[in-house]
Amino acid sequence: MARRKKIYEGKAKTLFEGPEPGTIVQYFKDDATAFNAEKRDVIEGKGVLNNMLSEYFMNGLTQIGVPNHFIRRLNMREQLVRACEIVPLEVIVRNFAAGSMAKRLGIEEGTPLPRPIVEYCYKDDALGDPLVSEEHIAAFGWASQQDMEDILSLALRVNDFLSGVMFGVGIKLVDFKIEIGRVYEGDFMRLIVADEISPDSCRLWDMETGQKLDKDVFRRDLGSLTDAYSEVARRLGVMPKGATPMKPTLIN
Ligand code: TMP
Repeated sequence: MARRKKIYEGKAKTLFEGPEPGTIVQYFKDDATAFNAEKRDVIEGKGVLNNMLSEYFMNGLTQIGVPNHFIRRLNMREQLVRACEIVPLEVIVRNFAAGSMAKRLGIEEGTPLPRPIVEYCYKDDALGDPLVSEEHIAAFGWASQQDMEDILSLALRVNDFLSGVMFGVGIKLVDFKIEIGRVYEGDFMRLIVADEISPDSCRLWDMETGQKLDKDVFRRDLGSLTDAYSEVARRLGVMPKGATPMKPTLIN
């Protein structure tokens, strides 16, 4: 088979040119990074888990009519997605105080927020993805006023969907980050959910014990990251019981 053309290599994923125009193959690596890649490791099986979990969440969004880039999963580590122009923002939705917001505002982690709070960070690794306001976004032309209305609506719909799915399996959705892409259909531009939705980009706490089932396990050295992600996958029925990300097809 001819070698595929690599389009972009990120910290956790590599993008290759897809088989048809307007498509991209998204390959999930086992690399884990935190604190703008100051901390890094390779965690066997993480890529497989995130590929399957992102497929699960994106398919769920499609079912409720939230547009997203997912087309189909190709194999254990790759999925076919729609090519899009990524809006240079990380869109964060928070239901409970945690992480950088808890620190910035001096709020104890786990405190319920009066309503979901949406934050925007400018996607720039060299700057450490700084928090920005809608004033910055408008003034620098990263997104228009109409785009921002659409982005807010997408973010809140994803929050409602993900919170509900997680609640159903005894997990609290503390916060998450999504990325948004632009696709062009003739003269028309549409915004869709892109990148990935996985425990790398969410905070997920067990409702009973408060146990962390997300990338904070790696950031804060709390134990096995694959055990945590496998638990999420197992509860959602994404990973058959008895299977592991290294032996993902084993069915008991
Ligand atoms: P934060 O509290 O560190 O700002 O993170 C907020 C959410 O965004 C959390 O669910 C983790 C996710 N996140 C990413 O997906 N990528 C990142 O680079 C960072 C810093 C956070």
